[in-house]
Amino acid sequence: MKNNKKIIAANWKMNGSEELMKEFSQLTPPKHNDVIICPPFTLLDSAKTLLPNFIKIGAQNCSEEDNGAFTGEISATMLRDSHVSYVIIGHSERRTLYRETDTVILKKVESVIKNELTPIVCIGETLSEKKANKTLEVLEKQIDASITRVNTHTRLIVAYEPIWAIGTGLTPNEYEIRETHLHIKKKLNLHFNIDVPVLYGGSANAENCSKILSVENVDGLLVGGASLKKHDFEMICNC
Ligand code: PGA
Repeated sequence: MKNNKKIIAANWKMNGSEELMKEFSQLTPPKHNDVIICPPFTLLDSAKTLLPNFIKIGAQNCSEEDNGAFTGEISATMLRDSHVSYVIIGHSERRTLYRETDTVILKKVESVIKNELTPIVCIGETLSEKKANKTLEVLEKQIDASITRVNTHTRLIVAYEPIWAIGTGLTPNEYEIRETHLHIKKKLNLHFNIDVPVLYGGSANAENCSKILSVENVDGLLVGGASLKKHDFEMICNC
């Protein structure tokens, strides 16, 4: 997606059904934004069959390994064979609940890129880190440990998701989003020498989407809860 359009990515998490996918098959192409839907693994096939062509398909995770004795895992190679184009990596729920470290995340990012898919790498600070004024420091550390170490830069999207904003209805104010995105973009663009899209995620919804999308250096949104309602998601896509 190399154009000036914003990217609206849906993270369905462990939600959704064949029925919901059928509803989403009625989405109409937005004028100004590109759309990615990341359903659970079990719905990737119906996403491919049912969703209109303008919607790109993403997964929410993958193994850092290509294949082998890793019961229950799915590799980037397999996702590529399933016509997936994007993979969310390092979501805070995976970092926290499944103890994914920056080292594992780096390996996953490398595997995704090697398989010619685009990783959407999530970074973000906790509330206590924010309160301690450590947001930029934490983000820098995450970027250094799991993003700038990859030796290719042709496919990469980063999502800034403050952990305290995910699923809480809270969002940083526009000034905070602008400052943080500027910092992330500067660091990534300087390192990779290309423009790396940086999405905002965390309680983005139909009401706040235009305000957030109009903030400088916000290249799109990663939407959780609000991406499960067709009407709301359609409004966000048309923001
Ligand atoms: P939310 O989730 O929009 O429900 O806050 C965003 C995310 O976790 O990617």
